[in-house]
Amino acid sequence: MSNEQQVRIYNPTEEFKKNAAVSGMDAYRALCKEAEDDYEGYWARNARELLEWKKPFTQVLDESNSPFFKWFADGELNVSYNCLDRQVNAGLGDKVAIIFEADSGEVTKVTYKELLSRVSKFANALRGMGVKKGDRVVIYMPMSIEGVVAMQGCARIGATHSIVFGGFSAQALRDRIEDAGAVALITADGQHRGGKAMPLKPIADEALSLNGCDTIKNVIVAKRTGAATEMKAGRDVWFDDAVADQSDVCEPEWVSAEHPLFILYTSGSTGKPKGVQHSTGGYLLQAILSMKYTFDIKPDDVFWCTADIGWVTGHTYITYGPLACGTTEIVFEGVPTYPDAGRFWRMIQDHKVSVFYTAPTAIRSLIKAADNNPTVHPTKYDLSSLRILGSVGEPINPSAWEWYYENVGGSRCPIVDTFWQTETGAHMITPMPGATPLVPGSCTLPFPGVQVAVVDETGTEVPWGQGGILVVKRPWPAMIRTIWNDPDRFVKSYYPADFQGKLYLAGDGAIRDKDTGYFTITGRIDDVLNVSGHRMGTMEIESALVAHEKVAEAAVVGRPDDLTGEAIVAFVVLKGSRPTGEEAKAVIKELQTWVGHEIGPIAKPKDIRFGENLPKTRSGKIMRRLLRQLAKGEEITQDTSTLENPGILEQLKG
Ligand code: WTA
Repeated sequence: MSNEQQVRIYNPTEEFKKNAAVSGMDAYRALCKEAEDDYEGYWARNARELLEWKKPFTQVLDESNSPFFKWFADGELNVSYNCLDRQVNAGLGDKVAIIFEADSGEVTKVTYKELLSRVSKFANALRGMGVKKGDRVVIYMPMSIEGVVAMQGCARIGATHSIVFGGFSAQALRDRIEDAGAVALITADGQHRGGKAMPLKPIADEALSLNGCDTIKNVIVAKRTGAATEMKAGRDVWFDDAVADQSDVCEPEWVSAEHPLFILYTSGSTGKPKGVQHSTGGYLLQAILSMKYTFDIKPDDVFWCTADIGWVTGHTYITYGPLACGTTEIVFEGVPTYPDAGRFWRMIQDHKVSVFYTAPTAIRSLIKAADNNPTVHPTKYDLSSLRILGSVGEPINPSAWEWYYENVGGSRCPIVDTFWQTETGAHMITPMPGATPLVPGSCTLPFPGVQVAVVDETGTEVPWGQGGILVVKRPWPAMIRTIWNDPDRFVKSYYPADFQGKLYLAGDGAIRDKDTGYFTITGRIDDVLNVSGHRMGTMEIESALVAHEKVAEAAVVGRPDDLTGEAIVAFVVLKGSRPTGEEAKAVIKELQTWVGHEIGPIAKPKDIRFGENLPKTRSGKIMRRLLRQLAKGEEITQDTSTLENPGILEQLKG
């Protein structure tokens, strides 16, 4: 480590190391070397060992149409078969697949056999409606067993699902339905969160009433809250009714490894959210391999990933990875702070969770809660079942890391700080818990077989100790295949000409430690914000703001926030005069509500400031760097002499 600062290193214990899938650094290096020496051979070996193929592949990586890479393209398999039938066939039918804990605390357990039956019935229901291989199905559901069943059901018949997070608005849902050209929508009457029942079906109805959704022929509605629900005859059907008379045997649709398993919309720096398209074989391979290597998953483990199925983490580490490994996992409907901020710790205790995977933003808020109320402090619970802790979604600050390590993990459990993205499908840079010496705040080293680097603007690798741009040097099996409906944008966004189209641009900055080569992610290098681990494009929020009748112009930037990582700050020019005092407060509220309605509550700016204009260069470009300084409350150090009206800086100081 750098000698300027004493960094504490946390080594795995000998005991942990002994039983670990990747045991010790020599084992880790051997895997990396295997991949280095024979890249295709390494991935092909794993694909043969970890997946059950209906038709074995003969091709491994096809780079002929770069950067539209293909993996195992002539092989055929089915993801749902690999997750469910495989476990039942192996004698795990009576093993608990899902422990569902509702917001209310009610617990429901589903075995692999039961899950296979439920998925098969649902898949048959979809088939009965005429949904077929390649059709897109949008899922807008709360955290529920039905949510997982819906995803697996689509996979079973080869329909490509696209989950829209239950916190997104009607407008956001509409946009995704239209872009995907979906034929069916699966939703619920509502959802429970923090003791409150919230509507979903009414939002879905609003979305469907907007232009662009007429491709939707069927709407399937799961009953969750029991709220009075309007059902449109000929279009809407209750989930329970749809599956009631279906057979629980459903022959899987065998698809090519390259068949699109799902599309998941995520934010980019420009334009509308992009539909990240994932494959079947390569995606599932890395979901499984990362369960084995990063989470060291064992038959007795109880795994809990706290993400929502609406995000990629919920796809890979709830719906697919754990089930494909025959794991018992927790699916949680509620929030970490209800009925109190000890909820996570109580659930770990009650269900004897052994591998726990959450986001820094949750940890930070629970640290704060425990500081204020000692009864919800993790040390008040029996967390002795834990053996591995994970972190994902944003950089974890060393102090939060240490708190997590000591108070949740009892200074016993390795923390895997996993860096990855919607586009990467699975972990890219992460410790191996039984091998990698841990340094708080660093995601350490690449996953075996993944080849990442830090480069400058020309694509040349920079020396360790020097910051740069994070890239992936070789295609990997679980990578994004394209952007749905927009292959040009795929190429431009991820394989830019600056790097001769040869390097995958992650969109993050990174630096490698000058002694160990460990990676630390320094944050996005584009106009993407990370608020509580949720990706938000500044452009999306700006477009939402200017769609409001009072707004003439808007610019959105991020500001560091102790709790949410980043907070959204909006600089707004109104069509009328600049409001002040009470009037300003009222407009701020109105605009926050508006953005919540246009995109979803997660996109609401925390801070809105009004100016008569925005600071622009002579050529009319908004000076975002200056706005970032203003947002942080920093002194302006930049030359502002070119500003048309320097007085507006005063107005925007907030
Ligand atoms: C950030 C979530 C630092 C990063 C799986 C990335 C992280 C974006 C980490 C992807 C981490 C994710 N350390 N930063 N361990 N994990 N990020 O697509 O900026 O929702 O590009 O995928 O989150 O967010 P996404």
